[in-house]
Amino acid sequence: MRPVIADGNEVEYLQIKTVHQFPFPWSTPVFFDTVPESVNIIPTTLEPWQTKLAQYDLIVLGWQPWNLSPSIPFSSILQDEKFKALIKGKPVITISGCRNMWINAQEKNKKLLQAAGAQLVGNIALVDRHPNHLSYFTIFHWLGTGRKDRKWGIFPKPGVSEKDITGASKFGNLVKEYLRLNSWEGLQQDLSQIGAAPVKYSLMFIERKAGKIFQKWVDLINKFPQKGKIYLLYINIILPWHYW
Ligand SMILES: Cc1cc2nc3c(=O)[nH]c(=O)nc-3n(C[C@H](O)[C@H](O)[C@H](O)COP(=O)(O)O)c2cc1C
Repeated sequence: MRPVIADGNEVEYLQIKTVHQFPFPWSTPVFFDTVPESVNIIPTTLEPWQTKLAQYDLIVLGWQPWNLSPSIPFSSILQDEKFKALIKGKPVITISGCRNMWINAQEKNKKLLQAAGAQLVGNIALVDRHPNHLSYFTIFHWLGTGRKDRKWGIFPKPGVSEKDITGASKFGNLVKEYLRLNSWEGLQQDLSQIGAAPVKYSLMFIERKAGKIFQKWVDLINKFPQKGKIYLLYINIILPWHYW
């Protein structure tokens, strides 16, 4: 947002907080407990929130995928009636930070944004650029210990690189130009040209397959809720195979 602010715009930040906590670093049971609600985009209760103004020229939504779906806090705010009224008819940009699989989740976001009447004008996806098999291990190291460092001192650092995080201002520089004109046509093409939403086809196919498998497990959990914990344990064990 820095280039947008430097261009004379006033920016307000709103952090979404859920009543139910998702403590960081993550423990294994809390991590896998997120599966049913995230996959079926079931909203959780939010802490009360308030914006200073009633209307905004642009809304930028920072989010992350959980289990190939929007995270529970994010899908909850997208289904909040007050928030839906705020973004109705407004240009929206989504920006995610994740391991490497965000496409499935973004498809769900698109539907939620459409239901709210918002106009999705741009998407930016920051990812861990290391090979899929490596980042699978390193992200669990980070999320499980809270340390964004090298596992055993030998694996690469997990998550979005510092270079990509600081380099993200190039997207802000572009957005600022469109905001000046308050015209959004062509933004996504321009963003894509400078690498805003890199798509790896091999990962896209894994996502499509794994997304369906996740949904089947969640349907089973909902059908036999008393066995939910057992199914979650199975998901826990077979999860790596979803992503290979
Ligand atoms: C429960 C859970 C599920 C996740 N599922 C995915 C996923 O499907 N795809 C992905 O690329 N990253 C996934 N991640 C990684 C998150 O996107 C990760 O939290 C993010 O890279 C770190 O950013 P944060 O500090 O905003 O959580 C998952 C993380 C959690 C905690």
